[in-house]
Amino acid sequence: MKIAFIIGTRPEIIKMSPLIDEVKRRGINFILIHTGQHYDREMSEQFFEDLELPQPDYNIGVGSTTHGKQTAVMLDGIEEILSSERPDIVLVEGDTNAVMAGALAASKMHIPVGHVESGLRSYDKTMPEEINRIVADICSELYFVPTEESAVNLIFEGLHPQDIHITGNTVVDAVYRNLKIAENYSNLNFDIKKDFITLTLHRAENTDNPQRLKNITDALLELKEIDIIFPVHPRTIKTLQELKLYDQLARADHIQLMKPTGYLDFLVLLSHSKAVITDSGGIQEEAITMDLPCITLRYNTERPETVTAGGNILVGTDKERIIQTVQNILEDEELYQRMSQAENPYGDGKTSQKIVDIITEAYENGNLKITPPENIGGLEGRFIQKVEESIDVLRYEEKNASTRIIVVFDGDKAQFPHGNLQLKGKTIILERFSVE
Ligand code: UD1
Ligand code: UDP
Repeated sequence: MKIAFIIGTRPEIIKMSPLIDEVKRRGINFILIHTGQHYDREMSEQFFEDLELPQPDYNIGVGSTTHGKQTAVMLDGIEEILSSERPDIVLVEGDTNAVMAGALAASKMHIPVGHVESGLRSYDKTMPEEINRIVADICSELYFVPTEESAVNLIFEGLHPQDIHITGNTVVDAVYRNLKIAENYSNLNFDIKKDFITLTLHRAENTDNPQRLKNITDALLELKEIDIIFPVHPRTIKTLQELKLYDQLARADHIQLMKPTGYLDFLVLLSHSKAVITDSGGIQEEAITMDLPCITLRYNTERPETVTAGGNILVGTDKERIIQTVQNILEDEELYQRMSQAENPYGDGKTSQKIVDIITEAYENGNLKITPPENIGGLEGRFIQKVEESIDVLRYEEKNASTRIIVVFDGDKAQFPHGNLQLKGKTIILERFSVE
């Protein structure tokens, strides 16, 4: 079996690393394709060093440009590489342009795509990432979703439960594996005796909106009661400078601006922080993994589990709301403890093992092939039914040939149809197929 990993940006390198390690450990053949979307040393190369990853076999070198051009160059480059390499499966991770381009190129060549961190939805199509997630999921064959909630999102888009695997998120594997190493290796230059908050900011909807960016920086300037360490994403440096906000932040005694840090240094920063303020996706997950209260500078999140669990508060970009929420968390010990102790919804750190097990089994059973249909027939229809008998999902499907349960309702709550889920008293939606 040959696996092609496609990566393009900082978070993909980090979250793919436990999977690359696992594939290497099992002696499975693989290639690594970097689109080159992130190219600065501190946005790419640093992570290969920190995570001891092999150098990419290919780097498309797309660099920074508009979404359309970037996606087009990636599509072209990935297609060429895949046609000479012919992997058995392509793995993409997350929601960047690299993910969309990789999934689209591979699926048109009938190469199965496994989408790691599939099923996340913010239901906000103004985010480029939301479009990327949806397109990548449409193009995928295997869905590695972090939680039951993300699995149900996919079901309601018509994707099949049998292709959806609830595995947790590899971000937890990466944190567990690297935190100890980080404590020993990091040589970050900051004073960890004082209380501080770590801040990151790079979402297009914040950095490309001058009013939002100004609201956020005004809030940071007023939050003088706590030090703030801010490793600044290159996208954000540009706009902060254009709006003349960078110098204001740099002059504030309680704010320390720095270049983006490597992964090990960032884990050390997080582990010594009182809390984190961010608009990052991955950092919302890392915060709950590391028992750190998270304040998210967004109006919605594709990681609602972190909010429901109690570890994350969405504050949007209203200045007063940001200040008030940070102050509440720092002053109210009970709230602080509740947020720190929120249960991590993203798994036990064994996500990469589970994903590689699933891929290996699919390969060995001959299921990693996209072939044209051979039977005449198709979908007869979708039906809703109340189940009175005592039976689980697997036995129901065995008993009713050509029937697949799509979703189960326990009262008014939608559930993923796990094979051993008891159906008595529940309502199901099923698909029936006609086969000649
Ligand atoms: C991209 C992803 C985003 C992800 C983020 C991770 C898309 C649409 N966006 O956003 O989902 O959260 O990566 O950090 O795929 N730049 C540099 N050096 C670099 C890379 C970028 O200076 O190595 C600057 C360039 O000015 C560039 C800007 O950052 O125009 C934005 O880069 P881009 O890759 O387009 O998007 P990100 O904001 O990094
Ligand atoms: N990160 C890092 N150094 C930094 C900021 C972030 O190593 O200075 C890591 C962080 O640990 C997380 C990932 O980068 O794993 C998040 O990436 P980012 O916020 O850029 O993207 P997103 O997760 O929003 O797609």
